[in-house]
Order: sequence, then C-alpha cells, then structure tokens
Amino acid sequence: MDRRQFMGAVAAGAALTAVANTSVAGVKEAGNLTSVFEGSFYLTKENPGRWAAKTEGHLPVVEVSKTDGKSTVKVTTPHGMSGYEHYIVKHQLFDEKMNLLGETMFDPTKDAPVSSYDVADYSGVLYVMSVCNKHDVWVTAETV
Ligand SMILES: [Fe+2]
Repeated sequence: MDRRQFMGAVAAGAALTAVANTSVAGVKEAGNLTSVFEGSFYLTKENPGRWAAKTEGHLPVVEVSKTDGKSTVKVTTPHGMSGYEHYIVKHQLFDEKMNLLGETMFDPTKDAPVSSYDVADYSGVLYVMSVCNKHDVWVTAETV
C-alpha cells in the first residue's frame, strides 16, 4: 500500500465513522446522510463541499438487481483511471448498522472503478462509498 492508498483508506475509515455515529452527528433516520461531517469529511450529492464541480464523476452510481429474492448491487464510479496519478482507490458497501458487506480495491493500471456485491436477502439501507485519491470520499445511500 503506497501513501495515497493509505491516505484514502484513512479518509474512508474516518468518513465511515462519521456516518456510523449517526446519533452523535444528528442523523434522524437510516439512509439520511446529513451530519456535521457531510460536505467536508465525506461528500454527497446534496452536499459535495469543495468538490461540487466534480460530483458527476465521483458520486457512486448504484444499481440493484433482484433474482429469486436475492439482491446484487453493482457500483460504478464514472471516473477515469489515470494510473496512480488520479484514480478511484476503492469502493465499500455497508448495511444500515455499518457492517461492512463488501470492499473492492482498484489497481489503476488495469481496473475500471466498477464492483459488484451479492447482498443475498438483505433488505434495508445500503451505504456505498467511493474514494478518489484526489477528490476525497463520496457516499450514496440506497435502499434494497
Ligand atoms: Fe477524482
């Protein structure tokens, strides 16, 4: 793990903690990403902070498909992968209790920022995180 990957992992962990501490941060219901940390510590569609002009290329796009009651979640970040200069470091998927359901680390020399997770029969809110090495941590909530 190089320095950028380490810093991305640290930022992702910090953002996760911010989301997980929902009662402290003032979030009133699962799936609501509003907190004092939104727009700075982690970024959302509603509050992209200093990277507002970068929202479209950084907000994770979540697609849920169901087969026989089992859900599969596909996450795409519409972001280029310019080698280690500028890339999406990872995706993470959490349930509404902040249990880690899945994580994908990307190699910018060969991967596209796309990941897929089998969440079986889970139903509820999913928090999806995408980490850019230059433009911080982005979070989307989706209900399955
Ligand atoms: Fe970026």
